[in-house]
Amino acid sequence: SRKYTTYSQLPSEHQMVYEMCRKFAEEELMPNAGKWDQKHEFPTEAVDKLAELGLMGINCSSDHNGSELDALSYAIAMEEISRGCASVGVIMSAHNSLYLYPIDAFGSDDLKERYISPYTGHERDENGRLNIGCFGLSEPGNGSDAGAASTTAKEDGDEWIINGTKAWITNAHEASAAIVFATTDKSMKHKGISAFVVPMNAPGFSLGAKEDKLGIRASSTSNLIMENVRIPKSNLIGQPGEGFKIAMQTLDGGRIGVAGQALGIASASIDCAVKYALERNAFGKPIAQLQSIQNKISQMTVARDSARLLTWRAAQMKDDGEKYTREAAMAKLAASEAATMCAHQAIQILGGMGYVTEMPAERHYRDARITEIYEGTSEIQHLVIAGDVLKEYKQ
Ligand code: CAA
Ligand code: FAD
Repeated sequence: SRKYTTYSQLPSEHQMVYEMCRKFAEEELMPNAGKWDQKHEFPTEAVDKLAELGLMGINCSSDHNGSELDALSYAIAMEEISRGCASVGVIMSAHNSLYLYPIDAFGSDDLKERYISPYTGHERDENGRLNIGCFGLSEPGNGSDAGAASTTAKEDGDEWIINGTKAWITNAHEASAAIVFATTDKSMKHKGISAFVVPMNAPGFSLGAKEDKLGIRASSTSNLIMENVRIPKSNLIGQPGEGFKIAMQTLDGGRIGVAGQALGIASASIDCAVKYALERNAFGKPIAQLQSIQNKISQMTVARDSARLLTWRAAQMKDDGEKYTREAAMAKLAASEAATMCAHQAIQILGGMGYVTEMPAERHYRDARITEIYEGTSEIQHLVIAGDVLKEYKQ
């Protein structure tokens, strides 16, 4: 089927998502992002507003109070929101693509009723906070090697008992439910991993201290600690042993979200650098007239636009029901490299002003770096892409 490559080609539904997110980002995220970053402050009101706009259940069906939009809309929304604030971007992506998606795609109707319907931006927890979710795959001892989970789940009557620690979990301090991957049969290695939804107010569940991070500092990151946490049997997602595949398929979609986040950071860096270059004079004329500066502006735009094309391709392949693992990895790799390069060059174009917090360039530089690490490092994306290419040649 036809694939969209430019904004002007997009159907009106996608254009509306774009306009809505762009306006919200410009009016409410951009003016506050620097303050949230400096104070390490979770942007509660902005996340409430995301929910009002239907962005905290963006892909879920309307049967579960979701907005029922496609993956392309999600990629577009993630870029615009992250252009306003990359921390808000990751809060939104961890909730949508990592928490809601696996329940939606693999969970029972009962799980969807209990853990999607109240989590699509319309209901609050017992403390009055918007219900949001998090995703616990990584552990202190293993991140890239996701199949080496040491967290365990044991059956006991009508319950599972979960023990272990998950590390680096986004939204941990604001979430009220977590997707947790645990091994139900160690001898089966990755085929012994299962996926669960764990309510975070369960006895035995606690949080580690908030990590003090280089970037995306308005989002929380911390350990989830589970000591004999009992959950009902029915909180298993899919079948025992299906957890690793659920994690991998969830990350395929998640990588489109991170690609969108990285595109937003790249775009924000380009905005800041080009506006500055037009106004800053050196040697009697605006630096935008210098060829060295123009080369940077060109290099940044080419990298951002090519990564956007890869991201839109992956999203549309997902929407068309095609296999898109390789394409999502390519999008995430290219977009994260575009983000770090654009943020780096934006500082260069701003000179000294790029290095101080008065301008947003230094925040974009710090925020960009994580996109090359989470949801699979760049080395892991290369492994996924090359593995798929080699498979094709061996067939
Ligand atoms: N879809 C479906 N199945 C898949 C799959 C996919 N994308 N990728 C692998 N599989 C299946 C394989 O077909 C294989 O199945 P069989 O056992 O039936 O043959 C099985 O999974 C094992 O595959 P591999 O041998 O390739 O697995 P591996 O152990 O070598 O690991 C990996 C592969 C790509 C390195 C994987 O471990 C990985 O993606 N690691 C990175 C982890 C990661 O991205 N973590 C992110 C955490 S979330 C986060 O960071 C949050 C945030 O941003 C906010
Ligand atoms: P390691 O796996 O120890 O890797 C160290 C280095 O070795 C890297 O350069 C890596 O690329 C390289 N390497 C490892 N294996 C290979 C290989 N086979 N081939 C080539 N190179 C290799 N996780 C979650 O589950 N949920 C979250 O919400 C979440 N949010 C995060 C938020 C932040 C801010 C951060 C920093 C991390 C988050 N993570 C989350 C964890 C993240 O996914 C991992 O940090 C990431 O997958 C890398 O794992 P690691 O840190 O253990 O690095």
